[in-house]
Parts: sequence; structure tokens; C-alpha cells
Amino acid sequence: VTSALTPASTPARTNFSSDNYAGVHPAVLDALGEASGGHVTAYGDDPWTALATARLSEAFGAAGVFFVFNGTAANVLGISLMLRPYEAVICTEGAHLNVDEGGAAERIVGCKLLTVSAADGKLTPELVSTRLGSRGDEHRVQPRVVAITQATEVGTCYTVDELARLAEFCRANGLLVFMDGARLANAAAFLGCPLADLSVHVDALSFGGTKNGAMGAEALIVMNSALLTTVPFVRKQQMQLASKMRYLAAQFNALLDDDLWLRNARHANAMAHRLADGAAGIPGVDLWQPVESNGVFAALDPALIEPLRRDWPFHIWDPDQHVVRWMAAFDTTKDDVDAFLSAIRALAGAPTS
Ligand SMILES: Cc1ncc(COP(=O)(O)O)c(C=O)c1O
Repeated sequence: VTSALTPASTPARTNFSSDNYAGVHPAVLDALGEASGGHVTAYGDDPWTALATARLSEAFGAAGVFFVFNGTAANVLGISLMLRPYEAVICTEGAHLNVDEGGAAERIVGCKLLTVSAADGKLTPELVSTRLGSRGDEHRVQPRVVAITQATEVGTCYTVDELARLAEFCRANGLLVFMDGARLANAAAFLGCPLADLSVHVDALSFGGTKNGAMGAEALIVMNSALLTTVPFVRKQQMQLASKMRYLAAQFNALLDDDLWLRNARHANAMAHRLADGAAGIPGVDLWQPVESNGVFAALDPALIEPLRRDWPFHIWDPDQHVVRWMAAFDTTKDDVDAFLSAIRALAGAPTS
């Protein structure tokens, strides 16, 4: 019996929908194979987990590292460590935590999200302070965590100075900081800084592998040692304690070898820049955000959107403003970008170049 999904029928063409439409980097697949010999202790007491934990602890300057299956889980676990039952999280309206996690924070953590509008995806001390007015009022939920995303959901990056300023404000105001780093690699590649320069400003963060060539692995990185003791128990309750932990860890070991994580992120960012540079001159295409990671956000002439999507699937980010999102991945090629640009030019009636 053959599977209906033979290689010939598999829709394998690269597109710009999302970085998690990409497959697994060959080095990660090899690492999974290599990790597969023999029996080792389950639940993380194995050499692969010890090695990946040590390497990530060093890279981030972390107090603790905990592997989980996906980014939503990392976010939920991270903020779970920080909140009492009457406390709340301040985040942007567009935060993945707020719009794309199915209410996981509200259901699993049981907390309220206090949202702030931020067109560029970034929180500032001024924006955070707009949600602090009800502190001390027993009728109101009490803000305790500021959740930011790096790179943001709209592809921008907090500079190290912006992170430092926000962290200082939060410390002075009794707020903890959680950073969703599903695309932290892309931010580090853009900023050209070590991972530790980003983590030092927060209490806990996630470090995404899945969008950067892993099959499916994320790490919760705990910086604030006061948060450490409950993590193993909360991770287990949240069903994120992998019994075959070595396979999550092996993926990170492969990404850490020879800085594959950074090379993948730099490449994805470069492909996004190539796409943005080419698209910028096409009539009917207006870049909506600066391209600072692996995503291009552009307002399109509405007449272009559906014809283009027929051959090149991508997400519509804001239907009212006709803003679309094009994501590059570690395996996007220059030819993919150039073919996509040709398709946009052809539809826009622009000269081919
Ligand atoms: C900013 C951000 N955070 C977290 C995630 C993780 O999501 P998932 O639970 O699908 O791994 C994503 C995935 O799209 C994301 O874009």
C-alpha cells in the first residue's frame, strides 16, 4: 500500500507563507538519527539534554533551560512562573500570546492580558505605563508581567538599548519581563549581538528552534533564578515534559554546532531583504514596516493580492489596510525570491528586471 502523499504529489515548492512551512534542516535530521541509538534515561536525564542545556545556559547566561514542544507552550510556561492569580500580563494587541494562541494564557494560566496598541510591534515604557493606572485598586487586576516579542510579530527588532530602557523601567516599577523569542535567532542576526545581550534584560524568554530549521523544539530560558524552583513541576502539569527529551535536545545541539542557528537566521533575513529591496520599486507595493528580520510586511494594491496568492500562498496580515506578510525561511533561495518578484512585477504590469 502506498501513501496518497507521494513525493510527486507533495506540494514541495517554497512559498512565503511562514517560516514554519519550511522543512527540517538536514543537520537537524542527521542529529535526530544520531541520537537514536540505544536506550537512555527518559525525561531529560540523558547526555543530549545535558549538553544542550549546558550550551544554551552558557550562550544566554541562564539560570535554567527547559525544553518544550512548541512556542505557545514556552510562552504559557514562562508567564505561569511569574503570576499570582490576580495578576496580569501587559502585551501588544498584536502579540502572538494575545491573538494566535487560542486563549492559552487565559485558559491555562488563568490570567488577563492587558493589551496596548503598537503599530511597530514594540512596547515602550510610555506604552506600558498606560496600563499601570489601577495598581493597588483591589477591584482591578494587577499588572505584573510585561511580555514582549523579539523579533516582533511585524518583523521589527528591539535594539539592545530599547530592551535596556524597558527593563530598567520594569524593574523600577515591580514588573517582570518575559520575551517571546520564537524568532530570537533572526533578531540576534539582525542586531549582530550575542544572545546574552538580549537575554540579560529579561526574567525569562523562549528561544525558538522550529522556525529556524528544527523539526519542533523550543527552549524556555530562565534568567531570574527566583523563578527556577517551580519550573519542572509546572512544565509537567502543562504536559510539556518530553519523555524522549533527547530528541528535543538533539535538535538544539545541531542548531548550536558551528552556529547553524545564526547562519540559518542570517540567510532567512538576507532573503527577506532581497525580497523587500526588489518589491520596493514595484508600483502597488508599499513596505509597511522596516525589514529587520525574516519577514516583509507590505501594503499591496488590493487588485494584486488574490491573483498573486493563487500561485504564491501568503498570509493577509491586515485586510483593512491590504497589508500582507511574506516570510523567508532558512531554505528560501535567491531563485525563489526572484521568481516571486517576477510574478509580482508581471501582475503589477511593471517591467521585468
Ligand atoms: C511570535 C511567535 N511566538 C510564538 C510562536 C509559536 O507558536 P507555536 O505554538 O505554533 O509553536 C509563533 C509561531 O507562529 C510566533 O510567531
